[in-house]
Amino acid sequence: MSTTTHAGLALTHRLRRLRRSESMRALVRETHLSPDGLVLPLFVCEGDGVRREVPSMPGVFNLSVDEAVKDVAAAAADGVKSVILFGLPDQKDDVGSSAHDPEAPVQSAIRAIKREVKNTLVITDVCLCEYTDHGHCGILIDGEIANDATVDQLVRTALSHAAAGADIVAPSDMMDGRVGAIRQALDARGYEHVALLSYAAKYCSAFYGPFRDAAGSTPKFGDRRSHQMDPANAREALREVEQDIAEGADLVMVKPAVTYLDVIRQVKDRFGYPTAAYHVSGEYAMLKAAARNGWIDETRAMMETLTSIRRAGADIIITYYAREAARLLK
Ligand code: PBG
Repeated sequence: MSTTTHAGLALTHRLRRLRRSESMRALVRETHLSPDGLVLPLFVCEGDGVRREVPSMPGVFNLSVDEAVKDVAAAAADGVKSVILFGLPDQKDDVGSSAHDPEAPVQSAIRAIKREVKNTLVITDVCLCEYTDHGHCGILIDGEIANDATVDQLVRTALSHAAAGADIVAPSDMMDGRVGAIRQALDARGYEHVALLSYAAKYCSAFYGPFRDAAGSTPKFGDRRSHQMDPANAREALREVEQDIAEGADLVMVKPAVTYLDVIRQVKDRFGYPTAAYHVSGEYAMLKAAARNGWIDETRAMMETLTSIRRAGADIIITYYAREAARLLK
């Protein structure tokens, strides 16, 4: 009797051997996501009992302080230990005064979260675009964003967050010198324990569209190209990160995530600092939209996306999917 074999194929290495079962794949898996590194963004507005879904971001809400506290507690139960807060004030003016109002939504939410949900880390976004009536990230002089006047307002804002109890302040404005100015001011007022997460390499991206819906921060005219980075530049990102570290950043961020995975990798390899990546609103909205049309498997696409960001070198991922991912990882 003769048997038919394919013995002619003498392969020394068969990479498929290590893919045969889930136990085998788990044994050799290189990248692991953990809920510890996930940060949930929350949009805090004025009022009481407010929970308003953002049309372009299914599953994301504008929340009044009382409702935000509930979501922080629910996120903690899911395993998400950090949140980043954005504010939606009722009052806006040309210099973004409500950004540093101690009674504004973000400052009130920090105090309420610190009082009611123990151990959750509170990060705050420091920028003026949600607070100015023109929607720009800074103070306008002759139609241009005035760097140093804006930095003064950012410093006041970061101090008000620290005074309310923020653990980490995260300037996202991309003004020059803001990290050093905020660090010095924090230290001078006795907030030397408050950490600073710099949105160091923040690109001028089309993927922030849904966020501006959520935060009501679309500029009334013009765009953000005079301060956010050109998507074509990676070496410049390294200079931004280097400068922010020199000015005192404890953690650095690349934003958006998926279209800048190469930048995340370079920042991590070059500096070795705790590196965050922001999986932004447009990246979230695209997955949601495709999933709602039945075109992709949302859970798999979500985990594949977050894994790719982690694999590129991000230690920390800010994502609207934080709770869903944490529940899966538990
Ligand atoms: C600015 C800020 C923005 C985002 C985070 N911080 C918007 C912008 O720069 O226009 C975008 C986040 C997202 O798209 O999810 N305060």
